[in-house]
Amino acid sequence: MRLTVIGCGYVGLVTGACLAAAGHEVICTDIDEKRIGQLKAGKVPIYEEHLDEVLQRAVADKKISYTSNAGEAIRAGDVIFICVGTPPKESGEADLSAIDHVARQVATEARSPKLVVEKSTVPALTGVQLQKALAAYSPASGPKFQVASNPEFLREGTAVGDFFHPDRIIVGVEDAASAARLREIYQPILDRKFHCPIHAGGCPKETSGELLVTTINSAELIKHASNSFLALKISYANVISDLCERIGADVEEVTHAMGLDPRIGAQFLQAGLGFGGFCFPKDIQAFIHLAASVGVDFEMLKAAERVNKQRLERFFEKIHRALWVIKGKRVAVLGLAFKANTDDIRFAPALEVIRKLLEDGAIVHASDPEAIARTKPIFPQVVYHEDPYDALKQADAALVCTEWQIFRKLDWELAGQLMARRLVIDGRNLYSPKKMQELGFEYHSFGRV
Ligand code: UDX
Repeated sequence: MRLTVIGCGYVGLVTGACLAAAGHEVICTDIDEKRIGQLKAGKVPIYEEHLDEVLQRAVADKKISYTSNAGEAIRAGDVIFICVGTPPKESGEADLSAIDHVARQVATEARSPKLVVEKSTVPALTGVQLQKALAAYSPASGPKFQVASNPEFLREGTAVGDFFHPDRIIVGVEDAASAARLREIYQPILDRKFHCPIHAGGCPKETSGELLVTTINSAELIKHASNSFLALKISYANVISDLCERIGADVEEVTHAMGLDPRIGAQFLQAGLGFGGFCFPKDIQAFIHLAASVGVDFEMLKAAERVNKQRLERFFEKIHRALWVIKGKRVAVLGLAFKANTDDIRFAPALEVIRKLLEDGAIVHASDPEAIARTKPIFPQVVYHEDPYDALKQADAALVCTEWQIFRKLDWELAGQLMARRLVIDGRNLYSPKKMQELGFEYHSFGRV
């Protein structure tokens, strides 16, 4: 099938690449002409494992193309996936102006009927508004449009794997024909009929989930409900962590034991600096706002958001308690990305940590495997090192902000010899307090004595 993807960011590029790998003809467009130019030159503007390989194969198979001419892209596809950003406004409400802009483009550029699929994360009831906008922007004699919701459940850092091996594919539709078209689009994924960059010999059967058909409102709600539940779990673990610090218990042992109950599950109970990224923080704000707009006070989510914001305060309390005076101290920040295996620094705790350290007069050195290039323009006064050991040289303290594997495996015996003071404040509970103390470190983390 011929598919159009509007928006070449984390979601759009992964969607376009993987649907091309599934055998469809995909045309991708973006308002950022520089980004389209990079893609046409074979450069991938984001770091996402396997994306480069999947895109290269799709280009070689002539299954994917790029254009900055939205009209051309809109007319080329039978189904249009909207993958544009929906950032939070000051109020926390989702800014849907990019969706509205795309609706106007589709309505004015299309010359034949289209199935318009919202893949961007949007609040429930957006589909209703999108349908109205398409009708309002269409000329009287213009083609008719169907709207569907197909929320993405991609985690940054594993987005390609998540797309190829979905737990579930959710399609929210208003009619059976739209459901049939979306099932046809995803059937090669469900049947594991694509070249998988992860499973050379073909994907194991258990890696593909099921396709669920529901209404547009329910599909939109499933996305926000899923994401905010995961955020709730993280904040719950962080309150348990606060309790452990005061009672003298170990949050890692408590959450591990909790997770052994399959009804609770072990994932997303990791205490620490909390959640960042361009999903959880904005999705829970949008969900709180949507709930309020229909008279539901989502107190639990407000509490989860408050607990998450407190993580930075807790972390600074630990830093001040250990360093006493920040001014003039040399501090090594290990990790800039909001999580491991991505170069994305949006809503990353590390950036708030650096901002506060600089305000307090610290000399900041930083290391991250992928996110230095995105951070440099924001904090030019920070000294950046590809090699974490270089960042640690003469440091009065090391602050761990991202759970990169390279930091988990650091040789702290060597690091201790390089540092001016053996002080580690670990925002991601990467290390054993006992082992760090045996190496002569003053070691602080979350929820452990
Ligand atoms: C999330 C959802 O997982 C994904 O399904 C959705 O489609 C998009 O949003 P993402 O934001 O990419 O994905 O990253 P995720 O792995 O969920 O982590 C989000 C944040 O929570 C990161 O900052 C991570 O460090 C933090 N986190 C995660 C914790 O603090 N504790 C945990 O136990 C897990």
